[in-house]
Amino acid sequence: QEKNVQPKAATSTTTKPDNHQPIEVQEQRAYEVWVSEMMLQQTRVATVIMYYQNWMEKWPSIFHLAQASQEEVNAVWAGLGYYRRARFLLEGAKQIVHNLGGRFPRTVVELQKVPGIGSYTAGAIASIAFKQAVPVVDGNVIRVLCRLRAIALNPKASTTVKLFWTLAKQLVDAIRPGDFNQALMELGATICSPTSPSCASCPIARHCKALDLVGQIEKKISSVT
Ligand code: ADE
Repeated sequence: QEKNVQPKAATSTTTKPDNHQPIEVQEQRAYEVWVSEMMLQQTRVATVIMYYQNWMEKWPSIFHLAQASQEEVNAVWAGLGYYRRARFLLEGAKQIVHNLGGRFPRTVVELQKVPGIGSYTAGAIASIAFKQAVPVVDGNVIRVLCRLRAIALNPKASTTVKLFWTLAKQLVDAIRPGDFNQALMELGATICSPTSPSCASCPIARHCKALDLVGQIEKKISSVT
């Protein structure tokens, strides 16, 4: 087995893209986002942290991961469940290293050709690592957008998911798309919870159409009682 597959050191020929981060920094970020988002797909953030740290210690770059065996990967993954995700990570790393020289594809469409990278993970890598103004939509984001625009649709219905990708695409911040997407996810996971949202501490409450409607209804009720 080839031992010396390592990322190349930054050189003076490194080109700087629009967002002023060297390519190597973006590549490393893409790897980190990929691993963490794969872990976060079925597991809570608090649980993922230890697994993520162990993983990064063992395989600090995609080049290290590509050399691993499935047994080693499964051992670090043990406890997270859904081992398909662990298989995808190893398979994807080998593909990116051996077919693409360790460089992640740059577009959402191309990213989705990597094993295990779906629209969600592709959006996360493109927006967080590559700073592209593309959306990321999960169940939490759908619930937040549903309320923000008072869209009277079942947020869990698969027929509405496409609509929310379109809406999220219109909303995503062009300058800080990664932060925007993660803020929406975080808002859904914390403040804008499914059954008891903490609207009093919500930073975007003044933009929330659902909250406004609740206020109007309460006002009406108190005017007739
Ligand atoms: N849940 C899954 N991925 C996340 C992210 N990038 N930010 C916040 N919550 C998340």
